[in-house]
Amino acid sequence: MAGRIANEKFLTKVTDIETIVKMVKDGDKIGVSGFTGAGYPKAFPVALAAQIKAAHERGEQFMVSLFTGASTAPELDGELAGVDGLKFRTPYQGDPVLRGKINDGTTYYSDIHLSHLHNQIAYGFFGKLDWAVIEVAGITAEGELIPSSSVGLNRTYLERADKIVLEVNQWQTEDLFGLHDVYYGTEAMPPNRQPIPITAAGDLIGQKTLKVDFDKIVGIVMTDAADRNSPFKPLDDDSRAIAGHLIDFFTTEIKAGRLPKNLFPLQSGVGNIANAVLEGLLESDFEHMTSYTEVIQDGMISLIDAGKVDVASATSFSLSPDAAEHINNNAAKYRGKMVLRPQDISNNPEVIRRLGVISCNGMIEADIYGNVNSTHICGTRMMNGIGGSGDFTRNASISCFVSPSIAKNGDISAIVPMVSHHDHTEHDVSVIITEQGLADLRGLAPRQRSRVIIEKCAHPDYKDILLDYVAQAERVSKAMQTPHDLTQCLSFHQRFNETGSMKIK
Ligand code: COA
Repeated sequence: MAGRIANEKFLTKVTDIETIVKMVKDGDKIGVSGFTGAGYPKAFPVALAAQIKAAHERGEQFMVSLFTGASTAPELDGELAGVDGLKFRTPYQGDPVLRGKINDGTTYYSDIHLSHLHNQIAYGFFGKLDWAVIEVAGITAEGELIPSSSVGLNRTYLERADKIVLEVNQWQTEDLFGLHDVYYGTEAMPPNRQPIPITAAGDLIGQKTLKVDFDKIVGIVMTDAADRNSPFKPLDDDSRAIAGHLIDFFTTEIKAGRLPKNLFPLQSGVGNIANAVLEGLLESDFEHMTSYTEVIQDGMISLIDAGKVDVASATSFSLSPDAAEHINNNAAKYRGKMVLRPQDISNNPEVIRRLGVISCNGMIEADIYGNVNSTHICGTRMMNGIGGSGDFTRNASISCFVSPSIAKNGDISAIVPMVSHHDHTEHDVSVIITEQGLADLRGLAPRQRSRVIIEKCAHPDYKDILLDYVAQAERVSKAMQTPHDLTQCLSFHQRFNETGSMKIK
């Protein structure tokens, strides 16, 4: 323990988790570390869930509001949602149990751009935070915190919460020290903020550790538990085809002189397809690529190991269990090749725009004009959330969306007449890619886009009914800028809800 807590004063705060959770009250607002399955507190949520369950069994009201970096793991979101312990949740989730509670109305979910939450907390939109519960890899002799496998909003929660709990996780390697870059230059409020001085993906502009106010610490708990990430789905023909289309597109852009040979810094979103695209880049001829992204996935590690990517900037790892183990055993080797930053910096719109980042994110569906739905199944059912996709898409030099052209054995088309929920508008989407092909929407007007998207991206089973819709919309629409038949534009979704398939039987 002494090795992990190098400051004697901090040793006096070590306690057990039950003592701490007894202080948590119904209605408390809790900001925790954690971004995807990385760096979330391992002891606090499980102990709190047990306490909430016991209170409910006694007939008492007990729910809390939970703030994180992004999604977490079953031990956090799953445990707390499973005991009906979450009244409010923000900014992103991906847990099946919590998803159920959001969709059945138990939990309020505020789905927020990940770069926005730091400011929104600082502005006081959510009132005062009661707790910050932060996992760290260690505490330095100077009394600062070595972040673990994610940074997320840890700096924000440590600054803004009344009470602080630290979990020192001995499973996390101490070699993580030096992989983080914690920037404190956004403390000034607008309009007095200074530019963030990042001019290349790997620039270091902050410090290696997080600051903490010792007097706010109510307890430090020792843990020894692995991050829990899900493995990615294995590469299949569809994801290989999607990656192939994207690589061909980059090659054409280089030949046309619109991209340099090492591309612009790449962003790659969460999910299986986005990871598959990274794996696909391994087969490409591109060298010395860089990445300014949100999460470092297995595919990015492969690209760094292969010498294809020189440096990747993110806020967190999002790794399969095998890759997490690999990083934990080899973290020192990646210093200088990876940087983990606070998420308001990793996802900062101004930096993304200036670096010319190329974004690539998964989608649920796109419509014939290029609007994208990343979050809601059939317009009402939350899947995960917008995450950082909007931070990158809106500000990228080229914004790409990827998806197989069909889902659920072909009963769902990813290309629909009108999206059932809007996350990214036609103004922000440059390229749509399915296994069928790539639609380059740049420079096209809506009626030109509809033909290209259907021709290049729609599955053959849906091409004709989409073209029929276009013809019908252009016949009945009151105006021709963005023609729609308002009685039929959501007919694909209605048919799915009524018959279980978007196909016409
Ligand atoms: N209707 C219903 N279900 C759909 C669907 C649709 N139109 N499109 C996809 N799905 C389902 C798939 O069938 C799959 O279900 P399963 O897990 O039961 O097999 C699931 O959604 C995931 O789809 P998959 O094709 O494996 O893609 P993915 O893992 O790449 O995830 C998103 C796609 C859209 C869910 C994911 O990219 C996401 O949450 N994006 C929003 C956040 C984001 O972009 N973050 C990145 C910021 S840096």
